[in-house]
Amino acid sequence: MTAFSVSKDIQSPDDMADMARKIAAHLSAGDCLLLEGIIGAGKSHFARNLIQSLLPQPEDIPSPTFTLVQTYDGPDCEIWHSDLYRLSSLDEVFELGLVEAFDSEITLVEWPEKLEDVAPPHALRLKIDLNDTVEDVRTVTFEWSDPKWTPLLENLSHD
Ligand SMILES: Nc1ncnc2c1ncn2[C@@H]1O[C@H](COP(=O)(O)OP(=O)(O)OP(=O)(O)O)[C@@H](O)[C@H]1O
Ligand SMILES: [Mg+2]
Repeated sequence: MTAFSVSKDIQSPDDMADMARKIAAHLSAGDCLLLEGIIGAGKSHFARNLIQSLLPQPEDIPSPTFTLVQTYDGPDCEIWHSDLYRLSSLDEVFELGLVEAFDSEITLVEWPEKLEDVAPPHALRLKIDLNDTVEDVRTVTFEWSDPKWTPLLENLSHD
């Protein structure tokens, strides 16, 4: 059950990158972001910018489409970037260690629909929608149940 929801319009890839960096600054171990949206919505673009801002040096941040998970050493914990599009069974989510990572690392999950009821209830969900008329515009709808996210969303909505 989603208790809270807020939407934000994003005008360009640069604006999406800015928002990703602001969210990154707020994250700590055990935080999970679920990134929903069709192919090309901007999930990886968001994730790359978020991850890069937490790394001390610029690093290649490949899409985890084939590996399912890529991990990075963040300042206080690992950052797990996952793309479950090609997940064949829910068992793999456990085998990858992703379920444990939800509670101990920073996790970003593309195609979280594949998690079914393994999706962590403390996650912040971002639904990225394309715009019918303007190519680079996106609407991001945030949904969360854990009140720990509310200050961040209040902060973002002042921008
Ligand atoms: N406002 C925007 N926010 C994010 N990306 C945008 C925006 N406008 C245009 N784009 C472009 O849309 C593309 C999004 O690609 P990206 O790989 O991030 O999608 P994805 O949602 O991860 O898709 P997939 O499901 O295939 O993994 C990028 O080329 C990006 O530059
Ligand atoms: Mg992607």
